[in-house]
Amino acid sequence: MQNILLTGGTGYIAAHTAITLIEQGHNPILLDNFVNSSPKIVPRIAEICGKTPSLIELDILDTQSLTQVMRTHNIHAVIHFAALKAVGESVARPLAYYHNNVVGLLSVLNAMQAAKVAHIVLSSSATVYSEDAKPPFVEDAPLAANSPYGQTKVMMERIINDIAHTDPNLRFAMLRYFNPVGAHPSGLIGEHPNGIPNNLMPYIQQVAIGQRDYLSVWGNDYGTTDGTGERDYIHVMDLADGHVLALAHLLKGEPSFTVNLGSGEPVSVLQLVRTFEMVTGQTIPYKIAPRRAGDVAVLLANPQRAKDLLGFSTKRTTADMCADAWRWQKNNPNGFSS
Ligand SMILES: NC(=O)c1ccc[n+]([C@@H]2O[C@H](COP(=O)([O-])OP(=O)(O)OC[C@H]3O[C@@H](n4cnc5c(N)ncnc54)[C@H](O)[C@@H]3O)[C@@H](O)[C@H]2O)c1
Repeated sequence: MQNILLTGGTGYIAAHTAITLIEQGHNPILLDNFVNSSPKIVPRIAEICGKTPSLIELDILDTQSLTQVMRTHNIHAVIHFAALKAVGESVARPLAYYHNNVVGLLSVLNAMQAAKVAHIVLSSSATVYSEDAKPPFVEDAPLAANSPYGQTKVMMERIINDIAHTDPNLRFAMLRYFNPVGAHPSGLIGEHPNGIPNNLMPYIQQVAIGQRDYLSVWGNDYGTTDGTGERDYIHVMDLADGHVLALAHLLKGEPSFTVNLGSGEPVSVLQLVRTFEMVTGQTIPYKIAPRRAGDVAVLLANPQRAKDLLGFSTKRTTADMCADAWRWQKNNPNGFSS
C-alpha cells in the first residue's frame, strides 16, 4: 500500500479521487487549509469506502511543515490539487492567485526535493490552451491562457517541465481536465461552490433546488449546434479513475507525460439543461443573455493520448452526470452544513 499525499485533499476533485484510490488499495493522505472546502467531507468519504483517510490541516505555502509531513508519512507520490480556481476572481485578485498557485507549487516542489519524493501528478486545465488552438485540442496545441488563473496553470506546467529537465529523479503527470461535473453516486459528497457558481452545472443545480430563479445562458449566437457554447463535460468519478491510471503509469517507472482528461464529446448549454430536466424531472427556467467576456464557443478535448498511454476513456454519460449531481444537491442543499 503506497502513501499518496493529496494537496487540496478535501476539495471537490481530490475527495472523489481519494475514494477511488482507497478502492484501488492506495493510502491517500489529505492535506488542506480549508480555504475552499470543509473537513466534514472526511466522515462522508469513510461512510462510502469504509476507511477514514488521514487528514492534515496545513497551508502548502508552509514548506517546512510540508517537508515534515512528507517525511513522517513516507510519501510515495503527490497529487497536487491545491489551488484557487475561480477565473473571474483571479482577474480581480491576481496577486492572491499567483501567490497561492505558483508560489504554492514551488513550496510543494521544494518539500518534495527535501523529502526525496519523486512523483507528482498535477491538476492542470483546459484553460491552458490558446484561443488560437483549434478544438478538439491536442496536447501539443499552443498554450496561452487568457486569465490570471489560466496563467498560473501554464506557469505551473512550465515550472515542473523545467525542473524535470534538470532533476532526473522527478517524474510528473500533467492532467488537463476539461469540465468536471457530477458527484459520487452515493449522493454523500459533491461540489458545493461558495457564493454564486461560476460553472454551469452547479448553477443548474441551484436553480433546480430553488436557490436561484433562473439560469442565464450567455449567448445563443455561437457557431455551434444550437448557438450556445459547447463544452466537454467529464464525470468527476471518471476523472478520479484518470488520476489512478496516471499514478499507476508513473509508479511503473514510465516517463513523464501530459494528457487531456475529457470525453471528446461536445455538449451545449441547452443540451445539458434538457438532459438535466429529463433525468431529474425538474424544470430549469432560463433566459438568453449577451455573450460573456472571455467565453469561447467550443472547448473540446482530443482524448486519444490518454487512451493510448493510460487506457483511459470516459464511462459515465451526461445523464449519469446530471442524475448524480442532482442526488447530491437534493440531499445536501447547503453542502456539508446540511
Ligand atoms: N473544477 C474544475 O472545473 C477544474 C477544472 C480544471 C482544473 N481544475 C483544478 O483542479 C484542482 C482541484 O479543483 P477542485 O474543483 O477540486 O477545487 P476545490 O476548490 O474544491 O479544491 C481545491 C482545494 O485546495 C485547497 N487549497 C487551496 N489553496 C490551498 C493552500 N494554499 N494550502 C492548502 N490547501 C489549499 C482548497 O481549500 C480546496 O479544498 C485545482 O487545482 C483546480 O485548479 C479544476
